[in-house]
Amino acid sequence: MWRPGSWRTAWLGETSMRLFAVRKQAIYGWPGGAPQGRPLADVQFERITRSNLLRVGEARADPPTAAFAAAVKSTADIGLFAMKGGRVVGHGWVRKIPGPRRTRPEHIRVPETSCLIRNCYVSLDCRGQGVYRALLVQLALAAASEWPERWILIDTEVSNMASRRGIVGAGFEPVGMVRALQICGRFIIQDWNKA
Ligand SMILES: CC(C)(COP(=O)(O)OP(=O)(O)OC[C@H]1O[C@@H](n2cnc3c(N)ncnc32)[C@H](O)[C@@H]1OP(=O)(O)O)[C@@H](O)C(=O)NCCC(=O)NCCS
Repeated sequence: MWRPGSWRTAWLGETSMRLFAVRKQAIYGWPGGAPQGRPLADVQFERITRSNLLRVGEARADPPTAAFAAAVKSTADIGLFAMKGGRVVGHGWVRKIPGPRRTRPEHIRVPETSCLIRNCYVSLDCRGQGVYRALLVQLALAAASEWPERWILIDTEVSNMASRRGIVGAGFEPVGMVRALQICGRFIIQDWNKA
């Protein structure tokens, strides 16, 4: 049903995502060493590959299948599914920066000596059970094993408290904050403040 202002809202909402964005992200780093806490007994992890990537549809109604299809072709990306009772209930990726050109720009710029954990998600019905925390530990261990010389980073929007608590719970330590102005996909200003 049409409501006053709905066209304008729809147009601005749609285009502002692409043309203009202001982001404030909290950045955390993996300290290395053994992970804290015990692994979750009922959660398993599986590498995302060409043959299983469509299973992302088990975790969410809006599966980002095209992004997964691009990432599995890249040797700079590792993706993991979190599984419970044989069902995919979450996913996450870690990218050796800078990663493939066709899927840039990243939503933040991080040092070229780093890996960035990104695109993490847990099914609505499995949230609050520690799946994210466990997934982050597995992603960090996978990146540390594949790219031992790299700094492993993760960022999240400052307002995303579930994500921030999960990141800290997984053992990551605050590194700083980034405030970025992005216009037409290009970063115009990006400020790092150390934690
Ligand atoms: C963020 C997200 C991945 C968390 O998944 P999850 O499996 O529910 O997280 P966990 O169960 O491991 O919980 C992590 C922490 O967040 C807390 N938490 C969970 N839901 C919360 C909420 N809605 N608000 C505040 N804190 C919350 C948990 O209590 C836990 O903190 P604690 O260890 O201090 O108790 C999930 O909410 C999600 O997929 N969100 C949409 C996508 C997203 O935001 N991805 C992350 C982008 S970086």
